[in-house]
Amino acid sequence: MFSTIAVIGTGYVGLTTGACFAHLGHRVICADVVAEKVEGLQRGEIPIFEAQLERIVRAGLDAGNLSFVLGSENAVAEADFVYLCVPTPQSADGSVDLTYLETAAAEISANLKPGTVVVNKSTVPVGSTLLVEQALGRSDVSVVSNPEFLREGTAVDDFLNPDRVVIGADDQAAANRVASLYLGVRAPIMITDPASAEICKYAANAFLATKLSFTNAIAAMCEAVGADVNDVLLGMGYDHRIGHEFLRPGPGWGGSCFPKDSQAIISIAEDAGYDFSLMRGVVAANEQQFDRIVGKVESVIALDGATVAVLGIAFKANTDDTRESPSVEVMKRLVAKGARLKAYDPAVSLVDLDGVEVVADAYAACEGAAAIVVATEWDEFKWLDLDKVADLVAERHIIDARNLLDRGALRRRGFTYQGVGRS
Ligand code: UGA
Repeated sequence: MFSTIAVIGTGYVGLTTGACFAHLGHRVICADVVAEKVEGLQRGEIPIFEAQLERIVRAGLDAGNLSFVLGSENAVAEADFVYLCVPTPQSADGSVDLTYLETAAAEISANLKPGTVVVNKSTVPVGSTLLVEQALGRSDVSVVSNPEFLREGTAVDDFLNPDRVVIGADDQAAANRVASLYLGVRAPIMITDPASAEICKYAANAFLATKLSFTNAIAAMCEAVGADVNDVLLGMGYDHRIGHEFLRPGPGWGGSCFPKDSQAIISIAEDAGYDFSLMRGVVAANEQQFDRIVGKVESVIALDGATVAVLGIAFKANTDDTRESPSVEVMKRLVAKGARLKAYDPAVSLVDLDGVEVVADAYAACEGAAAIVVATEWDEFKWLDLDKVADLVAERHIIDARNLLDRGALRRRGFTYQGVGRS
């Protein structure tokens, strides 16, 4: 049976959630506070870089079961479910700022019909279900937690083919109703209490961040002892308890989620009287990783006054998102040491950093550079014309922070090559 769902907030989580529920057959009304964004979405224009999303948004608009409105109060009157997908940014002290969530709940309260289920999709700390209940001030609606596990770049696929659906509720009937929305999605559905669902999201991201910091630490060790991290990780990953995924060493982890959620879980634990020192170590190791990449550049050139090419600005490939990007972290450090940077990214044309010029292609970045840093794993960097690059640069040094390039081919052309965790 299909339901009417209102989605509040058309950021990357809200838009994906709304479009995917419409794809599953539900009637979905998405609301946002930004008029131009709503107008663009009504025309099927997607403001974010996300594979598949435009196609299913347009399909929903054409089928007539997906619509966009300005203002949350206009979206909820007929809704059986309201998904709150508003931002939950990090406050200055590392805790989670829940202002948007509270405001959204207060705004919709008067317009909800009795029996509506309000669902927290935003990543929220323990106690947020209660907070939304209080902001709503309605005893005839239920509040349920249903955290998202979407990756940027593959959000639609992650929604429609998830590893699991987690639902947290005190009201079993409301939880069952939320579970019924996922009819047609083949995945285990787990129902638990709100606190467990809320922590599940943070714990999953914190664990993945831990796996990455560990991977990068093993890479550093491999460099120290002369081992090859690719083979070490391959050997580790065959143990099915470890698995091969999320074992790619790199310049450190970033994005809109891991840094924010790692700080948040530390802060949530601290508020509850637990010192999550392991997680503090994971975050510190990530900072060290940015420094280690800079150290590699410094091992081959003097940074003060040098021109360095940076290939990749986004926090990972297949997105234009530069929030907490490891590339930007590395660039900040290079600039602080006096380097002038020429950066290129296939999807990013602006970076808010003095001392960095964003150029139109990889070759323009390499022109006159004393060293090249590969910071994001875009496919196109694999297929660079290395003879052309060799002719363009001032000095032949490559720091491949994603282990992406063909080191043999580079060395044959007279480049020094440094990867991560292998010589
Ligand atoms: C992450 C999680 O993977 C999602 O499950 C979660 O739902 C999402 O956060 C969220 O909380 O909304 P995302 O931020 O899109 O998704 O990015 P990831 O693909 O997880 O990558 C995070 C960072 O780790 C990137 O900087 C990436 O380059 C790095 N990474 C990832 C590696 O360095 N090595 C790897 O093997 C994998």
